[in-house]
Amino acid sequence: MTGAPWWRSGVVYQIYPRSFADAGPGGAGRPGVGTLEGIRRHLDHLVWLGVDALWLSPFYRSPMADFGYDVSDHCDVDPTFGTLADFDRLLADAHDRGLRVLIDWVANHTSDQHPWFVDSRSSPRSPRRSWYLWRDPAPGGGPPNHWRAAFGGGGGDGGGEVPAWTLDPASGQYYLHLFLPEQPDLDWSHRPVVEALHDVLRFWLDRGVDGFRADAIHAIGKDPALADGPDDLAGQPRSSTNDHPSTHEHLRELRTLLDGYPGERVMVGEVYLLDTAKVAPYYGDGDELHLAFNFPPLFTPWDVGAWRSRLAEVERHLHPVGAWPTWVLGNHDNPRPRTRFGSEARARAAAFLLLGLQGTAFLYAGDELGLEDAEVGPEEAVDPGGRDGCRAPIPWDASPGHGWAARPWLPWPPGPDLRNVASQRQDPGSVLHLHRRLLAARRASPALRLGDLEVLDAPEGVLAWSRVHAADRRTVAVNFTGAPRPVPLDGDGWVVEVASDGAGEGRPWSGRLGADQAVVLAPG
Ligand code: GLC
Repeated sequence: MTGAPWWRSGVVYQIYPRSFADAGPGGAGRPGVGTLEGIRRHLDHLVWLGVDALWLSPFYRSPMADFGYDVSDHCDVDPTFGTLADFDRLLADAHDRGLRVLIDWVANHTSDQHPWFVDSRSSPRSPRRSWYLWRDPAPGGGPPNHWRAAFGGGGGDGGGEVPAWTLDPASGQYYLHLFLPEQPDLDWSHRPVVEALHDVLRFWLDRGVDGFRADAIHAIGKDPALADGPDDLAGQPRSSTNDHPSTHEHLRELRTLLDGYPGERVMVGEVYLLDTAKVAPYYGDGDELHLAFNFPPLFTPWDVGAWRSRLAEVERHLHPVGAWPTWVLGNHDNPRPRTRFGSEARARAAAFLLLGLQGTAFLYAGDELGLEDAEVGPEEAVDPGGRDGCRAPIPWDASPGHGWAARPWLPWPPGPDLRNVASQRQDPGSVLHLHRRLLAARRASPALRLGDLEVLDAPEGVLAWSRVHAADRRTVAVNFTGAPRPVPLDGDGWVVEVASDGAGEGRPWSGRLGADQAVVLAPG
């Protein structure tokens, strides 16, 4: 074995608890909404699939204005999802099965129903007034600056249309919210806020969690002058541009806190700055985030040139500073890869990017089934950010209820009769089995898990790369075109270990990729 921490080689499976699984007939929670017990009941399936860790989106007490990303108590489970005892049981059962558990930590803001904000809003003289960012109106009236909120306006998730400030008529002051008005921003320059959020981390670390996905972490440090940037004036949501040096001081403290616990605890930060060069500093000198999401690939179309650029950016900006990359092709905020890339063949090939490039992979539940986004009509839409489609429930089997005891909170993704877990488990040719084979290949190969990456010369439309770790080698090739492509390789004796369509696995490499096909090749 190599000495690398688990989170470098691991594959983290993201669960959106509302949509994953309910607790079964007569189970606790709200009908049609997933629970922690529902997750626990499916742990054996996730072991069968072969992921290393789970990341749970928020399950804390919340009025659900942003479906849990508006937290009103960071240290308790919302009754919708179960109880703290359910969480402890889930954690223990996951650990028994060798699965790590990361949880979401929402530190930039709270719910407007959080007792801290209720207190803060109660009076300008409240002891908690300075926990949030209250300001007088601009001279002449109106919001204190031009910062825009992430959601609001047209109902899409683009944001930038409404101010990031809401007036509190009682005091005549505005409070800052980079997201919904129901999500007021905490003031991290105020020491008691820092201490309180550290205590939240300790609460869960003491319970045994393996780490955190830190929500909107690049946003916690704010320019004390709250000055406009050029992007704010262009109508960009501030949540995608806020990049203040004070955040790095906070991250160093957070790193010290986590690393003070035994057992390779990890913090992966949502650094929603859509530029890899801007993400790199959030790793510090190995003393800030352990991992940071690098989102440009998530917004990259099915185009070989665009993907080459993304790889080059990782090589240019992350590699020199020793920052271990992350790969994300789907999450609860964006259309699924199957929907974005337009075909199942491409979604299958995309899995080789996610799991075959160098870095920690984050697989969003349902992408391993090749699910498409649900069609959510206006009468069924519930998310203020327009993200319902990718949050459709997971169909567990082909029965009319697809394994749920009640009709779920959102419509099914297309084709649940076939695109469900049970049917795909029975079909060795399914997208699910492809992911299982890829995960097994990755687990068995130090080169795929940890190896250096070198992009190889390849014919037009093909991205090919080698992975090497000590004596272990793999070659991965992805055909981005709808036509077959020859891919000659140096050295003889390559064998197809995994193919996106299953063709030729275990046989010598033919030197030719099919349309939209991807392969992992192993030395023969
Ligand atoms: C992050 C989450 C998103 C949430 C937002 C506000 O971007 O991924 O779902 O709405 O933060 O907490």
